[in-house]
Amino acid sequence: MNGGLRMSRKQTFTIFGGTGDLTFRKLIPALYNMYAAEKDELCAQVVIIGRRDYTSEAYRELARGWVEKFARLHYKAEVYDELAKRITYYRMDFTDENAYGGLDELYRERGVEEHIFYFAVAPRFFSTIVRGLKRVSGAEGGKVVLEKPFGENLAAAASLNQEMEAFFKAENIYRIDHYLGKEMVRNIQTIRFANPIFSNVWDAEHIACVQISALEEVGVETRGGYYDHSGALKDMMQNHLFQILTIVAMEQPGSPGVEDMHQEQMKVLASLRIMDDTASSMVLGQYEGYRGEASVNPDSGTETYAALRLFVDNERWRGMPFYIRTGKKLGKREMQVAVVFKSPAPGLEQNILNIKIQPTEGVYLQFNIKKPGESDDIIQAKMDFCQSCSFINQMNTPEAYERLIGACFRGERSWFSQWDQIETSWKYVDQIREKYHAEGCALHSYEPGTDGPAAAADLLARYEHEWFD
Ligand SMILES: NC(=O)c1ccc[n+]([C@@H]2O[C@H](COP(=O)([O-])OP(=O)(O)OC[C@H]3O[C@@H](n4cnc5c(N)ncnc54)[C@H](OP(=O)(O)O)[C@@H]3O)[C@@H](O)[C@H]2O)c1
Repeated sequence: MNGGLRMSRKQTFTIFGGTGDLTFRKLIPALYNMYAAEKDELCAQVVIIGRRDYTSEAYRELARGWVEKFARLHYKAEVYDELAKRITYYRMDFTDENAYGGLDELYRERGVEEHIFYFAVAPRFFSTIVRGLKRVSGAEGGKVVLEKPFGENLAAAASLNQEMEAFFKAENIYRIDHYLGKEMVRNIQTIRFANPIFSNVWDAEHIACVQISALEEVGVETRGGYYDHSGALKDMMQNHLFQILTIVAMEQPGSPGVEDMHQEQMKVLASLRIMDDTASSMVLGQYEGYRGEASVNPDSGTETYAALRLFVDNERWRGMPFYIRTGKKLGKREMQVAVVFKSPAPGLEQNILNIKIQPTEGVYLQFNIKKPGESDDIIQAKMDFCQSCSFINQMNTPEAYERLIGACFRGERSWFSQWDQIETSWKYVDQIREKYHAEGCALHSYEPGTDGPAAAADLLARYEHEWFD
């Protein structure tokens, strides 16, 4: 079993924030899946850093429960036991620079030569940890994975980036955007470029609008303190949804390598037009009851919903709107990209291609067909391919974190956000946000469990479009 695993004791995966929610639900289960699938890139040692008072044994037993609950692959005690042997819990306060001497000692004892650090902590701690890591020999030559959000605005992100790049090599910084690890986001390029039925009509001449939606049923839950300083534009739009937009809108990269793909994504971001008329291009909303959530300012003006009407000013897309929406406490949890084609003749329904990203993964295609029988009436055929409905597919599809951690171990950078992308999208989001507030546009209230503010439906209705649900 696991004969293919690289057993070198020299490579170590260290998780700062190893007792947090992300580590429980995603990172440890991802390591288990990688181990159970016999991926040969798994690090030989895993060092978990947190403040809580655990021994390594106690932590391993706690983590066993998370694996049983959250891992994609079946829990097998003998597989977990092998993984657990590699896990060491190291208790420290990472804001205490002196504590890093002890960590350095631990690495020396273990003969660690190659580091991968995962910062599963709030971004305000990134610089603090980097300062501490200056006391760990060889840390600067390691890789680092940074969780979102990367900064709180353009200025903060730029200064954070400068600090990161002053310590780690630029090519060793992996800014994670876990949406880029999702199966159907990875599939967008194949659907677009490997099918002439789509690639030949993928432009403003044939498409009426593209709609990208990321809807959540839950509210802020226990993360009110974080979310209230962030909001829908910063938490979802600036990173995840803009990344998906670039993949939907970019030209086909010259090669599968990181450089070509980023170049094409960057061209899309650089072509985003700042809207002239903010009030008819953007809707921000807040769900009723948000201000009463734990750790939220009772007078909060933070948006829990955002919808945008955007234009990519280039030859392919000129004049065609991209509608993007995201929000919390909506009637359903759903993420999808709907491509609404132009109707070929008055009175004919539009063809719709819907790429379903989560929770169901699949592709839905709606097209016109003659009604069976003698009638010449035209009706809608609705083909619904569900990729994730197959148990085998579920078992064989790595989860986003599993895929991205593996890519980082292997040094594959295509599916991580690059600094220039983050910089450009922050610039855009900062600008439209400021414009929205400077022009006194409303923060629309909406009832939990609905589709969001009525103004978001009006945003499309004004142009004779409607959200595809
Ligand atoms: N949770 C998610 O699903 C999710 C999804 C996407 C992105 N993220 C991002 O991932 C990051 C972590 O999120 P999270 O939900 O895991 O946060 P969390 O549950 O609040 O966990 C925070 C972690 O940081 C540790 N920590 C805080 N201060 C510390 C200190 N001074 N010294 C040592 N450890 C310290 C905590 O350790 P102790 O508990 O031992 O004190 C805990 O392990 C955030 O940037 C978040 O935006 C999270």
